[in-house]
Amino acid sequence: MDFLEEIERRRTFGIISHPDAGKTTLTEKLLLYGGAIQEAGAVKSNKIKKGATSDFMEIERQRGISVATSVLAFIYKGKKINILDTPGHKDFAEDTFRTLTAVDSVIVVIDVAKGVEVQTEKLVKVCRMRKIPIIVFINKLDREGKDAFDLLDEVEQKLGLKVVPLSFPIGMGYDFKGIYNLWDKKLNIFSGDVKQTVSEGIEFTDVNNPELDEIIGETFANTLREEIELVEEVYPKFNKEDYLNGDLQPVFFGSALNNFGVKELLDCFIEIAPPPQPKTSNIRLVDSKEEKFTGFVFKIHANMDPKHRDRLAFIKVVSGIFKRNVNYLHVKQGKKMKFSSPNAFFAEKKEIVDESFPGDIVGLHDTGNFKIGDTLTEGEILEFKGIPSFSPEHFRYVNNADPMKSKQLAKGLDQLMDEGVAQLFTLDLNGRKVIGTVGALQFEVIQYRLEHEYGAKCSYDNLNVHKACWVEPEDAHNDEFKEFKRIKQRYLAKDKKGQLVFLADSAFTVQMTQDKYPTVQLHFVSEFK
Ligand code: G4P
Repeated sequence: MDFLEEIERRRTFGIISHPDAGKTTLTEKLLLYGGAIQEAGAVKSNKIKKGATSDFMEIERQRGISVATSVLAFIYKGKKINILDTPGHKDFAEDTFRTLTAVDSVIVVIDVAKGVEVQTEKLVKVCRMRKIPIIVFINKLDREGKDAFDLLDEVEQKLGLKVVPLSFPIGMGYDFKGIYNLWDKKLNIFSGDVKQTVSEGIEFTDVNNPELDEIIGETFANTLREEIELVEEVYPKFNKEDYLNGDLQPVFFGSALNNFGVKELLDCFIEIAPPPQPKTSNIRLVDSKEEKFTGFVFKIHANMDPKHRDRLAFIKVVSGIFKRNVNYLHVKQGKKMKFSSPNAFFAEKKEIVDESFPGDIVGLHDTGNFKIGDTLTEGEILEFKGIPSFSPEHFRYVNNADPMKSKQLAKGLDQLMDEGVAQLFTLDLNGRKVIGTVGALQFEVIQYRLEHEYGAKCSYDNLNVHKACWVEPEDAHNDEFKEFKRIKQRYLAKDKKGQLVFLADSAFTVQMTQDKYPTVQLHFVSEFK
């Protein structure tokens, strides 16, 4: 297979959902189709379960699992499919945002009874901003849920999508009879015990065919006919280009647990989902078909074994072929590096590979050289864009609780921040360190990991910050900016990259400051140019 064929057959995507909608179950069923796993229950949930163990212990357990589930690759009908794992827990939303920079499309799972939930809204918003192609899978049709049309309306309104159903349910819950697949005009009858089997469906090009009454009964057949008519009247026709541009989102119905509607989803996915896409860098758009290798780090996993400082940096290959033992340029450090044991991922195993293609994820063992967002090339000086930090939601001063271990603390904080666990800000005025996180849980995680992995102890002090605002002066030398810096001195800090940040204590302050200093722009994301 040549280079272009290798690219063309790759599909790299993420599944996003609110916790409990069925992401893990769907992933598992997809892997079953790919023959990558033999039985249900093989994929571990990366969910943070509330329960007997304290939350941060649970996170440690989850961290162990999430190395295994970071990338789940399998082959289906000749296509190489890479599923990138996205944590559903809200405190890890930033991890998911970063992973979304490495996918070419997403599948959104929605629970038919719960409808669109908060976490889904947030994640879909990010996908829409980036124009990522989205397929929606409405799950748990074997349970009572919302009316299909109501749910489609809700998806359009809450998620801001323009949907086109490519399958439609026949009944629901106790009365769930099956699915009519509008994509390939097939009828799939639900028997309730198909969990591990691959149902092929009956060809049924015309729902007006009287045979339908015999198969699902007259009442259901008539309802389906009316509903399909309505679907065809109300929704646009599916158009692949609109889907690829992020302007139209196909919807499938099914039950992941019962393995129902999953094959239809997968068969359509491999046909319409995009192969590896071009990516914007600071100087130009890099096409996946370019022969020279480029890639970037979107995730770092550290210290799975506390005795060894082992870190695994996850690189998405953007263009060219990543080869083992070849020198590549770490652009930010201006340093050449080669890797003797790059890992590729296959189902839940990782193995050393000689070559990886665009769309693939390579795991590189790292001793502290990589940060999230770093770019590797064959020599060209370019950096991929699109991995901004978002303003954290929670802020605390961090103190050294063991003066003998200040070096360990500094190192630990540094590395945890590289990993993207939280963000560190240093106050201009007195050099005090402030940690900002997406969820309150991370403070416990940091304390626990500092102690267990670095032998350092920290304590926190409260700090009233509403948002971190990245500062962009129109003119760094004008009087307005000087005045801003003088008046706001106590609230100014630097992020890890040395960018100036204003720690605002309320939404009101942000507004007031913006009004008072119109030439000093405040941004809630670190990447604004
Ligand atoms: P998540 O990764 O999105 O958080 O969800 P997960 O797949 O873990 O599914 C959440 C719960 O919903 C699980 O039940 C799972 O079995 C159930 N589920 C998933 N798909 C379907 C479906 O199509 N129909 C029905 N009825 N249930 C479904 P659980 O009791 O929380 O976990 P478990 O003990 O079954 O693992």
